[in-house]
Amino acid sequence: MALHQGSLAILENNVGVSDAVLLDPMTEDAFIENLRLRYQHNQIYTYIGTVVVSVNPYKTIPLYTPSIIEEYRSRNIYELPPHIYAITDEAYRSMRDRHLDQCIIISGESGAGKTEASKVIMQYVAEVSGKGENIDTVKEQLLQSNPVLEAFGNAKTNKNDNSSRFGKYMDIEFDYKGDPIGGVITNYLLEKSRVAVQMPGERNFHIFYQLLQGAKLNTLESLKLTREIDDYNILKGTVDADVATMNDQKNFDTVMHGMEVIGFSSEEVTSLFQLIASILKLGNVEFSHRSNEDGTDGCDLSNMAALDDAAALLGCPSADLSVALTQRKVEVRGEKVKRDLSANDGMYARDALCKAIYSRMFSWLVARINDSIKVTSGIRTEVMGVLDIYGFEVFEENSFEQFIINYCNEKLQQIFIELTLKEEQEEYIKEGIEWIHIEYFNNAVICDLVEKSNVGILALLDEECMRPGNPTDLTFLEKLNQACNNHPHYESKALKKCQNDKTLTHGTFRLKHYAGNVTYKVDGFLDKNNDLLFRHLSQAMYQCKHCLMKGLFPEGNPSQKSLKRPATAGSQFKISVTELMKNLSSKNPNYIRCIKPNNSKAANNFDEGLVRHQVRYLGLMENVRVKRAGYAFRQIYLQFLYRYKMLAGPTWPRWAGKPQEGVRILLEAQGVPEDEYAFGKTKLFIRNPKTLFDMEEKRRQHMHVLATKIQCVFKGWRQRTLYLLMKRSQVIISARFRGYWGQKMYKRTKQATLVLQCFARGWKARALLRKLKREKLEIESANVIRKFYLGYKARALLRKLKREKLEIESAIMIQKFYMGYKVRKEYQPRFRRIAGPKIARFFVIALRKKFLLDLKGKLPSLSPIDKEWPDYPKRFKAASDQLREMYHAWRCRKYRRKFNEAEKYKMKEKLMASELFKDKKEGYSKTVPKPFKGDYQNILANEKWKKLQRQNPEDNHIVFADVVQKVHRANGKSVERLLVISSQNLILIEHHSMMMKYRIPITDISAMSVSPHPDNTIVFHIQRHENGDGLSKKGDFVFLCEHTIELVSKVCLLIKNLTEKLPELHIAPLLKARFGKSEVQLSFKNGLTESVPGGVKIVRKKHTMDILYNSPTQKTSSGS
Ligand SMILES: Nc1ncnc2c1ncn2[C@@H]1O[C@H](COP(=O)(O)OP(=O)(O)OP(=O)(O)O)[C@@H](O)[C@H]1O
Ligand SMILES: [Mg+2]
Repeated sequence: MALHQGSLAILENNVGVSDAVLLDPMTEDAFIENLRLRYQHNQIYTYIGTVVVSVNPYKTIPLYTPSIIEEYRSRNIYELPPHIYAITDEAYRSMRDRHLDQCIIISGESGAGKTEASKVIMQYVAEVSGKGENIDTVKEQLLQSNPVLEAFGNAKTNKNDNSSRFGKYMDIEFDYKGDPIGGVITNYLLEKSRVAVQMPGERNFHIFYQLLQGAKLNTLESLKLTREIDDYNILKGTVDADVATMNDQKNFDTVMHGMEVIGFSSEEVTSLFQLIASILKLGNVEFSHRSNEDGTDGCDLSNMAALDDAAALLGCPSADLSVALTQRKVEVRGEKVKRDLSANDGMYARDALCKAIYSRMFSWLVARINDSIKVTSGIRTEVMGVLDIYGFEVFEENSFEQFIINYCNEKLQQIFIELTLKEEQEEYIKEGIEWIHIEYFNNAVICDLVEKSNVGILALLDEECMRPGNPTDLTFLEKLNQACNNHPHYESKALKKCQNDKTLTHGTFRLKHYAGNVTYKVDGFLDKNNDLLFRHLSQAMYQCKHCLMKGLFPEGNPSQKSLKRPATAGSQFKISVTELMKNLSSKNPNYIRCIKPNNSKAANNFDEGLVRHQVRYLGLMENVRVKRAGYAFRQIYLQFLYRYKMLAGPTWPRWAGKPQEGVRILLEAQGVPEDEYAFGKTKLFIRNPKTLFDMEEKRRQHMHVLATKIQCVFKGWRQRTLYLLMKRSQVIISARFRGYWGQKMYKRTKQATLVLQCFARGWKARALLRKLKREKLEIESANVIRKFYLGYKARALLRKLKREKLEIESAIMIQKFYMGYKVRKEYQPRFRRIAGPKIARFFVIALRKKFLLDLKGKLPSLSPIDKEWPDYPKRFKAASDQLREMYHAWRCRKYRRKFNEAEKYKMKEKLMASELFKDKKEGYSKTVPKPFKGDYQNILANEKWKKLQRQNPEDNHIVFADVVQKVHRANGKSVERLLVISSQNLILIEHHSMMMKYRIPITDISAMSVSPHPDNTIVFHIQRHENGDGLSKKGDFVFLCEHTIELVSKVCLLIKNLTEKLPELHIAPLLKARFGKSEVQLSFKNGLTESVPGGVKIVRKKHTMDILYNSPTQKTSSGS
């Protein structure tokens, strides 16, 4: 068995008895000893029938591993050692399979392990239920609601480090498959007084410490908080109460993770923390006493920084908050006036505000979680409720909260008694089963004392709260003393029976609860029950900008005029507890009774006295006795029969007789001994659960047989249906196939018939065709023969006609020739005389016409230099020459007409050059096609020239400008000069500086000399004036100029234009020049080999100047 596997060793070696019903002897001592024994061996769970008794081990025992969960899954409760898993599994399966809503009620005093047990239940349910993305999300949300609610609703008390300070009932909702689909959490009265004050050794709610210790620094800064716990009055002093078992930092992360999983937005988380921070800050606001002038008390706030921070966190002006904490509005004679609060009242208002914010925020938190986990699909759900409510509490000083908590526990005990002791025993009697009544303490009397309408403590408290006059806690106590004077469970110092009781003090009363005596201090009962917040405080909170405040303080809405008093805390709690009881009663209950082994929260410490006390007040012994004397199982006959009828032949498949008789046959058939069961009036009672489990097992096995049978029938039916379907299909298919085959055969036959028909018709047609063809051939042959014959005849006729025609034509021709001959012979002399010249003239005219027309078409181009002329007959040579001249003259005129004045002048220059140099100077012919550019230096653009020109305006028309070599008269060396010829003057300029050297009127040039060679030398002969200036005395100029022909032609034309006479031009191999008074002869020689400026080398001798030049074509000796 898996139980003996290593992983489950913890469950091995059962110690004592696992079900207290089996105890022998069945005494309280034996029961406690059994618990102790098991506790010492870490077997913390023990059954009383189906009730689980759990002893808190205060240590971690590996009882909750996945393999153990797997072990308990779908197993009968007595198969394995006692465990919460077993009872949870039983409840889960009953819910899932029998559709019975379940509730698991966990009870026990504070620190007994209720909350832990509830977590174990949820863990088990989450593990064994279905899986899937949506289901897992729901499970995770349900599980994560625990740490979040614990952070806000649990606190360290002297009894328990993680004490639930609120009641929690959680309905987990499942679909028909048993998969969780959501849940609803109901919370019960939070112990909010803890927010303002804690007992020594206790702490405030965990969340305060978690936030301060766990939040990041920037979060704390944004909340205006510091990490120091002692910085906050409401936490001060609780640092010493640090919980060793708790890690606030780590728990903060768990809470944050939980909120994220549940679906809290970051804004919601921030707003929650803002409220927590504002409470911390408000707690730091202090009040100091002030006496007003009118004699009344007032107060001043002394920690304004804390007030400002709180106001900023709540989103209201600090002035408003300050007024709300120090003043209140009261009605005096129908008028509302503001009254100052005393310092004490101020502190009371501050604490009330802190408590109100916290408790309302807690309710909002529960509602918000419900929002996330609620079922939205609207499908029918099965429900499993888990109740984990604050346990029974007895402190040194017990107040209203403990009174409420303990009342709640009374009610739970009551429902336990109702369902397990009273109802069970009553049922035996009702059903007529033999039964010895077992005595037990019924706490209904205490419940009545607390809750009975009009006379119960809660009713009296409400009455006192609402009483006009000046009710106080003490007047309430007086009222209690009067009303409960004779009640056996009520004690007070004022009562006679307790006057000697030293344990009772003034201002207290004692209730003898089922779980023990608790002395309550009445101090604060009225206030806490009233649970009223000053209206002006609610209004101030309503005005806050914080996003949750309007929802938390709806009564602060100024438009809400209703002044109806809200229900008191006590009566509200009573209503919700009554509702809870109703809810629990409507479900199938399962119990976990938690026992606390010691008061020191220590492991392995079994305080027998403490346990005995709990065993007694929990009524566990009575529970064991009832279980032992009674029957473990009961069921209505019909239901039992319906469930197990397959186990006996007569009852299967239907039993027609009485159900009880059927059940008897059924049990006998199973061989169940008679003392194992009893027949009631309507129900069957089975003593031992094992009997039922055996029957369940047999039913399970039989179900397999039935399932096989059903399977057989179903398979048979399915196969037959399939067969019928196949048969039907086969008929359809064969019908279709036959149809198809018939069609195919018909088409083939039709096709074959057609082919045969075609062949026959073809044969017939061919025979006919042959016959027709023969006939046609015959006709055609006849025609051909006829045609041939006709052709023959026609040709013969044609030949005959042709011959006849030829004969006629020959005769005509001969006739013509003869007649021609005769005519010519007759007219020949006359023709020769008259027609001969006429014909000759005609021919000449025709030839002339042809010549002219040909010439017209072949005329040469319009270019005057075109030498071409078309060929012509010799006879027209004179006419051709004349026409050629005319044509040339005409095209020359036409060419000239195209010239403007400037071009004409250029032409004149060219003409002049031709006249002067043609056939006279070597190299002339090369210059003919080159146009005379004149201004080779682009002098008109030269700025310095422009300046010179401004001084001599008559030189504005430039005829020639170029750089020349001026030959020095004395030594024949040459120097570069700019020679400019204007229309009036010859100007010589120093080339680089543009300084004018000479300016000679052009008319002073009397003659020019050049050699016939290509030597660029030019001599300007200057007129000699006897009384002239030095220049005329200096004599002639000799230049070497690249454009000699152009220069000379232009100067000649200028002088001709100015003087209407051409200057002299000497073109000779020997030239003369006058230098000063002497005359020098210039002789030219070809053969210059070196490269010199101007292209000539000049050697000056006394009366001669030898000019050496280079002519590539001609090498002549000097003087040639
Ligand atoms: N099954 C268990 N295994 C180990 N430790 C346990 C177990 N049950 C309880 N405890 C320990 O006991 C402590 C108190 O348990 P728990 O908070 O469940 O008590 P409670 O009955 O809910 O008390 P209260 O009424 O004050 O809320 C837990 O914090 C845990 O340390
Ligand atoms: Mg708890």
